[in-house]
Amino acid sequence: MMFVLWESILSDLMTFNTVLYNLRSAKNVGMIARSHIAFGGHYLIIIGEQNKWDFKGGTSTYTRKLIELEQVLFFETFEQFYIWNKAHINAQNIAIEISELAKQTNSFNDYNNSNLILGNERTGIPESILKQCDHILTIPQIEAIGSLNVAISASIVLYEASKNLQTQSKIEGFKFV
Ligand SMILES: C[S@@+](CC[C@H](N)C(=O)[O-])C[C@H]1O[C@@H](n2cnc3c(N)ncnc32)[C@H](O)[C@@H]1O
Repeated sequence: MMFVLWESILSDLMTFNTVLYNLRSAKNVGMIARSHIAFGGHYLIIIGEQNKWDFKGGTSTYTRKLIELEQVLFFETFEQFYIWNKAHINAQNIAIEISELAKQTNSFNDYNNSNLILGNERTGIPESILKQCDHILTIPQIEAIGSLNVAISASIVLYEASKNLQTQSKIEGFKFV
């Protein structure tokens, strides 16, 4: 009984953030913001050129919701983000990337206080950043399709991270409310 209670307290304290490194597509950012909220992520952290995100239109509904909650943070460079992280939340950095050195998502369960870092649609996460991360995680693929779409990758990993959370939204009809 005590164990179950303790597990549930721990899972309520659990936080994970989504970090987007140099993404190019507003549509991808919008889709990731939607999954980030649905799976209980805290900060959505955007690294790269700031002025290109105006967050208008349909794909930005979820991003704007996070901005209202003051849960979107912008950094120009990974180094700036790295320093902020150490000083303020000290979360472990987990690169979500295809790599021979990576662990696989199906054998990993240490998402507490973590930054889940996803890479640019064409160039991924640079080697120099991978070296600074605490873990690299690959989503195993069955067929030799070079890689998954970045928003799909984010959704899979956010779902994995959310499995430890006890709370779940209520369902009414065909919706979570
Ligand atoms: C389309 S991929 C980048 C392109 C890829 N590096 C290439 O050379 O074709 C964009 C991002 O999606 C994520 N990603 C895609 N497939 C993945 C997988 N199987 N496991 C982990 N991350 C993946 C990574 O974050 C990656 O940086």
